[in-house]
Amino acid sequence: MNNAFAGKNILIGISGGIAAYKAADLTSRLIKLGSNVKVVMTKNATKFIHPLTLESLSGNQVYHDTFQTTERYDIEHIALAKWADIFVIVPATANVIGKAACGIADDLLSTTILATEAKTIIAPAMNTVMYQKKVVQDNLSKLEDLGYIIIPPGKGRLACGDWGEGKLADVDDIIKILEANLWQKKDLQGKRVLVTAGPTIEPIDPVRFISNRSSGKMGYAIAKACALRGAVVDLVTGPTHLEPPTGVNIHSVESAKEMYDTTIKLYENVDIVFKTAAVSDYRVQEVATNKIKKGSEPITLKLERNPDILLELGRTKKHQILVGFAAETQELEQYALKKLKDKNLDFILANDVSTKISGFQSDFNQGTLFCENGEAVTIPLMDKEEFAHRIVDEVIKHI
Ligand code: PMT
Repeated sequence: MNNAFAGKNILIGISGGIAAYKAADLTSRLIKLGSNVKVVMTKNATKFIHPLTLESLSGNQVYHDTFQTTERYDIEHIALAKWADIFVIVPATANVIGKAACGIADDLLSTTILATEAKTIIAPAMNTVMYQKKVVQDNLSKLEDLGYIIIPPGKGRLACGDWGEGKLADVDDIIKILEANLWQKKDLQGKRVLVTAGPTIEPIDPVRFISNRSSGKMGYAIAKACALRGAVVDLVTGPTHLEPPTGVNIHSVESAKEMYDTTIKLYENVDIVFKTAAVSDYRVQEVATNKIKKGSEPITLKLERNPDILLELGRTKKHQILVGFAAETQELEQYALKKLKDKNLDFILANDVSTKISGFQSDFNQGTLFCENGEAVTIPLMDKEEFAHRIVDEVIKHI
């Protein structure tokens, strides 16, 4: 199971800011991802969100500054500090940041921050002026130097009515950073990986183009899997609506020609290439400078072949491992094996795109990975993120 969250103990610290309610969403999502979640709150945080909400979502007792008994208080902060695989403070107020930076431990949350040896992530949220104050910035820099991970706040309309920096980072981004820090299998450390993803688009005129149904999901999942596993990743992507994976170098392109140029430039220095993109095989021979006006007569577009990027990579291959994808609706094995041979690949994933449940646009995929040594591994229908890890697992066996 390639899930960084499964079975992990995540301690969420909530301090007193309006964004405290977002910690409830975070708690719920981490539980769904399979983590064990415990929550510690400051007294002020309990004014913004009731501990019962967090208790119900986490399924665990919530710890807060009620100073039940001194004895219990002492035990709790050590027990929580030891229990946590990772500690995330969401939201972190200027007050909590200041205490953590100065080693002040005067309530359960600040004491637990000081007592834990777990990696601690801090997601500040506050008014813009407060956030930009030198003392807060100095405290954050100090914490960063001390090994804390800071997730910078975003910009937007703040609860006080101001507009600017200080809005708690998106819960999606907090989850991505947690995932990157919880991931343990770093079997691509020291490797450089190139992934191409998405469609290419071939212009007809300034407003129209030819393209295909690729969403980029499969390629982005591979890029994310490789980055989590420690590789330096270059993702050459055609236009998509996807959020780029954390820690990946993004190279945005539109046409096959642009994808060709960018890929060839990066190729020399990479160890593995996953050629997931659905590259348009043809482009319009003469792109109109102005928008083509419609009339009653049919129009004819003359198409010419685009360069085959993977063919060129195979032709000039030195040390690189080349993984191609073959999107097929019939004779999967036969067509895929032909491409494996013709393009001088090490692997090809025969991707069944005859059904809507997998392949283009779906969150799921299935197929058979053929190796040039004759081995074949069939990967059944599964989530594209898991599918990506399964392909990477097989490729790594051959490094
Ligand atoms: O993006 P999603 O919606 O998640 O969908 C994923 C996917 C179905 C697009 C993906 O899993 C997939 O199968 N990608 C390959 C699609 C394809 O174009 O296959 P092909 O058989 O036309 O090309 C074979 C290989 O040659 C591919 O690795 C392709 O990137 C490469 N190629 C093709 C043409 C060309 N001009 N240059 C190339 O490099």
